[in-house]
Amino acid sequence: MSHTSIYGGATHKRITIRDLAAAKTRGEKWAMLTAYEQMSASIFDEAGIPSLLVGDSAASNFLGLENTIPVTVDELIPLVRAVVSSTTRPLIVADLPFGSYEAGPEQALATSIRFFKEAGAHAVKLEGAHIDSVKKLVASGIPVMGHLGLTPQSLHQLGGYRVQGREDGDVIFNASLALQEAGAFAIVLELIPEQLAQRITEALTIPTIGIGAGVHCDAQVLVWTDLMGLTPNPPKLAKAYLDMRTQMLAATKLWAEDVAHSHFPGPEQTFH
Ligand code: KIV
Repeated sequence: MSHTSIYGGATHKRITIRDLAAAKTRGEKWAMLTAYEQMSASIFDEAGIPSLLVGDSAASNFLGLENTIPVTVDELIPLVRAVVSSTTRPLIVADLPFGSYEAGPEQALATSIRFFKEAGAHAVKLEGAHIDSVKKLVASGIPVMGHLGLTPQSLHQLGGYRVQGREDGDVIFNASLALQEAGAFAIVLELIPEQLAQRITEALTIPTIGIGAGVHCDAQVLVWTDLMGLTPNPPKLAKAYLDMRTQMLAATKLWAEDVAHSHFPGPEQTFH
């Protein structure tokens, strides 16, 4: 990869929102992953992934909850701190969970300050077009990532995990312009038709990050357990590059059998 690539360079300096903006100017696409804990985060850092999202999807992929609605700030803060402290290069984005910002700019600011001070986050993400809140955060020195299209915290209002923007594409298009105008540094586009995502990506100067939004976005994000084949029933928008669930299942059974037959611990794991 070239020296100017967002993946390359000898530097271990943290990626900033300026690096992500420069990648769009160069036409360089990049990948973002979710991360919820130390081990996977450090692997993604080693792989050069420039930004990690401590998503509220931790609710269903890490904390055993049914969806993202119940997860709290107190539950997410330790996860953000783990991801920040076990990485050196990626920009770490903390997802603001449902109920922690919708009351208005003051609430959004108070929650974001907690993620910055208690967890060391470098940016926050919030769902929907909360334009005044985005302005307030940006004016307070907090970089904001927007999230439009399928916004899972509005699951019940949307009537399920459905493709958005088929009939009302202009609403999402206009919201993306408003978020950019308010100072957002990037926007996640989730589960929208690829033509709409392309139209938004071409209209915006800030990067779009697609998930189920086609190939034309400036970047792509995936939930890491979907990428690695750990999620039991992954969504159609995801692609597994590894069958980690099968491999972990096999290793677990093998070890349990070794224990049952006194093959573990062996001489190498035994002390005299
Ligand atoms: O919480 C999350 O993982 C997300 C991504 C799917 C964008 O919001």
